[in-house]
Amino acid sequence: MKPLNILMIGAGMYVCGRGVDGYGTVVPAICEWKKKNQLNSIYIVGTASKNIKLSKLKVDELQCNMNIKLSVRYFPEGAQANPKCYKEAIHSIPKPACAIIAVPDNLHKEIAISAIQEGLHTLVVKPLAPTLEEVRALMEAQNKNKTYCAVEFHKRFDSANLMLRDVIRNKKIGNPLYFVVEYSQRKSLPTRQFKKWVHSTNIFQYLGIHYVDIVYFATGAVPKRAMAIGQKGYLLSKGIDTWDSIQGVIEWEIAQGQRFTSDILTNWIDPEKTSAMSDQKIKVIGTKGRFESDQKKRGITIVTDEEGIEEPNPYFCAPYGERGNVSYKGYGIDSIGQFLDDVVGIEEGRLKIKDLEGKRPTFKESVVPTAVLEAVNKSLKINGKWIAIRGI
Ligand SMILES: NC(=O)c1ccc[n+]([C@@H]2O[C@H](COP(=O)([O-])OP(=O)(O)OC[C@H]3O[C@@H](n4cnc5c(N)ncnc54)[C@H](O)[C@@H]3O)[C@@H](O)[C@H]2O)c1
Repeated sequence: MKPLNILMIGAGMYVCGRGVDGYGTVVPAICEWKKKNQLNSIYIVGTASKNIKLSKLKVDELQCNMNIKLSVRYFPEGAQANPKCYKEAIHSIPKPACAIIAVPDNLHKEIAISAIQEGLHTLVVKPLAPTLEEVRALMEAQNKNKTYCAVEFHKRFDSANLMLRDVIRNKKIGNPLYFVVEYSQRKSLPTRQFKKWVHSTNIFQYLGIHYVDIVYFATGAVPKRAMAIGQKGYLLSKGIDTWDSIQGVIEWEIAQGQRFTSDILTNWIDPEKTSAMSDQKIKVIGTKGRFESDQKKRGITIVTDEEGIEEPNPYFCAPYGERGNVSYKGYGIDSIGQFLDDVVGIEEGRLKIKDLEGKRPTFKESVVPTAVLEAVNKSLKINGKWIAIRGI
């Protein structure tokens, strides 16, 4: 196959670390992929030229750190802000074979459909979309245009979650009775980093969705009903009208008449000085045992005068090596690399799109997480009433 051209829509924190320390996950993953594969150009699309310049600085620094040379074209190309310039970028020459979409959730559907309609294999960051109607429209576009479409649910690539899946599927702990998940991040996320689009999401949608997907991935169960309540306080006092914390309960059916629950507790008001970006734990109690996974404390503690106590996660997306020879490893890197490998396999005729169903986090696999998310969002509006989930 000819060297790959990649369209990258979105140029923020997750793509290249704009606005935070570090270089994000997507561009480091593309650089890693380039070490062993044929990459031609990347088109990186934002909305405002001022911001895209900041993204370019990040991408330039990353290339120096990794000693990788990328051929990048940035959009918008002029000085004017242009939220629709992704449409122009889609038609770039040479034509991109695939798109990676990392924009605010409420834009996923519109932008992904534009890419799919041009025949691009498309990876969308989680959540695919907040409503089932949008997920179905995306699946329809995919089927019509015969492209490969997946969701960047990188926790499916974490070996701790692969072990959880095996333990459940081989019945080592019997039948699951209940899962408990705690997942939270720092205050700066809603107050600084996502200030512009914080109103169009909430903390369950941003973090909770990951573990809804992991419970589904591990068990294959069908969600039957969900309820959620939340608290507003700290963020409201800062003029941001969104939940500090949301607690959702989902009831699932794993086999005829056999049900279990998952309690998913989320917040994004952790102290800035907490020792890790993500505080995350999952446990499941079954009829014959339990599985517990502390996904924050991965066994490393660094204590310094300058930074205090840090507990980094070496397994998600971490740089290794000195400047000029840095490489990135982790399940975030693997998840994006897998998509790019699949695109090449499909284009070379070695892989069939239909054969990836059931093996990858495809759009179809997102019906369940989005059905739960939609029910949680409805329940939040009506004081925690149970919402039935039907037709899955
Ligand atoms: N930050 C993370 O660790 C992380 C991890 C996984 C998934 N995600 C998901 O990635 C998405 C973006 O998150 P982020 O953290 O990068 O946010 P961000 O606010 O840092 O970046 C958002 C980006 O979207 C761009 N954008 C907005 N409207 C656009 C448009 N019309 N055309 C092109 N670009 C547009 C902005 O210019 C910006 O570059 C969200 O769906 C989020 O859930 C983020």
